[in-house]
Amino acid sequence: MKKRIAVLISGSGSNLQAVIDAIDAGMINAEIVLVISNKADAYGITRAQKAGIPTLLLQHTHSPSRTDFDLAMLDHLEQQRVDLVVLAGFMRILSAEFVRHFCGRMLNIHPSLLPKYKGLHTHQRAIEAGDAEHGCSVHFVTAQLDDGPVALQAIVPVTATDTEQLLQQKVHKREHIAYPKVIAWFCADHLRCSDNKLYLNDELLPANGFKLAFDAQN
Ligand code: GRF
Repeated sequence: MKKRIAVLISGSGSNLQAVIDAIDAGMINAEIVLVISNKADAYGITRAQKAGIPTLLLQHTHSPSRTDFDLAMLDHLEQQRVDLVVLAGFMRILSAEFVRHFCGRMLNIHPSLLPKYKGLHTHQRAIEAGDAEHGCSVHFVTAQLDDGPVALQAIVPVTATDTEQLLQQKVHKREHIAYPKVIAWFCADHLRCSDNKLYLNDELLPANGFKLAFDAQN
């Protein structure tokens, strides 16, 4: 049966677009039933509307507390009987209650090879550290920021001419392959999270997840 997905965004929504395209191409057996943005000017809202997906603007500045905001989101997600919550550039820390509620059913994409560079400015930090490789990680969300079991990492080589912006663009391209792939696994019931460990087709994944090499196309 088709899974019901909600995507949470705050900005451009290029990862949302990649998921929309992958569903349209028949790569993901799912329907996006709701896109929630906490920012009125998020271009992702337009992307969703163009695709005919219901959108909801929930501005945290209008909520008295983080808990109230998260409860309002939870309410909408429950009304939509969502199977999977996809964080796609959602720039907001979620309360422990919200995270617990969607334990094993909420994914995030982070632009670094976790556990390296949690938080912001990941590309600059990779360049400054002289790393030979950088990339992105798709992981299940736990109460700690950018933590939680990693399903997949897409690797990007760092070259001597890479600036923060160039590296960001290279990683972003990989994100658009990596995220739909993991969402497809989840929606096909191939990916399972149990006791903070991940199983792909019943095989335990390594701690840093499935490795997507630079030249892999799918
Ligand atoms: C991506 O770089 C993602 O890794 C991070 O937020 C950014 C979202 O970009 N979590 P977009 O809005 O999907 O274009």
